[in-house]
Amino acid sequence: MWEQVQQTVKYIKDKTDFAPKYGVILGSGLGGFADDIEIEFTLPYNEIPNFPVSTVEGHKGALIFGKIGGQTVVAMQGRFHYYEGYSMQEVTFPVRVMKCLGVEKLIVSNASGGVNSFYRVGDIVIIYDHINMMPEHPLRGKNDERFGPRFVNMGEPYSRKMISKAKEIARAQGVDVKDGIYLGLQGPTFETLSEYRMVKILGADCVGMSTVPEVIVARHMDMEVFGISVITDMGEEGTIDAVSHDEVLMAAKNAEPKVRALIKELIVRY
Ligand code: HPA
Repeated sequence: MWEQVQQTVKYIKDKTDFAPKYGVILGSGLGGFADDIEIEFTLPYNEIPNFPVSTVEGHKGALIFGKIGGQTVVAMQGRFHYYEGYSMQEVTFPVRVMKCLGVEKLIVSNASGGVNSFYRVGDIVIIYDHINMMPEHPLRGKNDERFGPRFVNMGEPYSRKMISKAKEIARAQGVDVKDGIYLGLQGPTFETLSEYRMVKILGADCVGMSTVPEVIVARHMDMEVFGISVITDMGEEGTIDAVSHDEVLMAAKNAEPKVRALIKELIVRY
């Protein structure tokens, strides 16, 4: 794995001497964030050695290098999901590449289903913790100390400092944000009513099919992480028959301008 990552990093460094400090993973319907970047260089996933190729509708596959307000960023336009059939090592490979390119701070976005009854569709949730209920773990197997330690402290996976800065920015922008705990399931089915109820009983506020593996691997490599979620549907009696991928994309798209403005300002001001 180490050698594969280094090979990919070398390929990228041979193409561009751009050295990003921020990494951004763009979730469902949030791909438009790429328009906020003064793009220096774009690399489609299918040209990058050792990269998996994205298959889901609404997820474009490219690494975008550029600047936001003078800060250097690399954005993943499209991510890899476990439910697509990739291994956890494949799902998280780009995060390892980002770190080895020099990225110190990772911003992750996603769409999720709300189970907190105070949430509404379209709400923006700052993730302050997660519950890992994925069936496979990205760090299972022999540990490579060059990436990080065998046993990773997960006491503060999401940076408290980034969270308070983001809340301050949201307040200044007049954008209402909630905070919450994200629970990661493998999908690809949306939850049954009983499963949504389980998610709530387990102590989470929202549920989705991504993010948790990438955050674990980022923490393994000691990156500072910020996570943000758009509530695209509510896992409540009477409303869940409406959940479809199109509905998720639509709700995420509606919240996109606010999420974009928040992430942009966080990158500039943090
Ligand atoms: N469940 C799981 N993943 C999701 C959901 C959901 O309700 N909405 C968006 N992604």
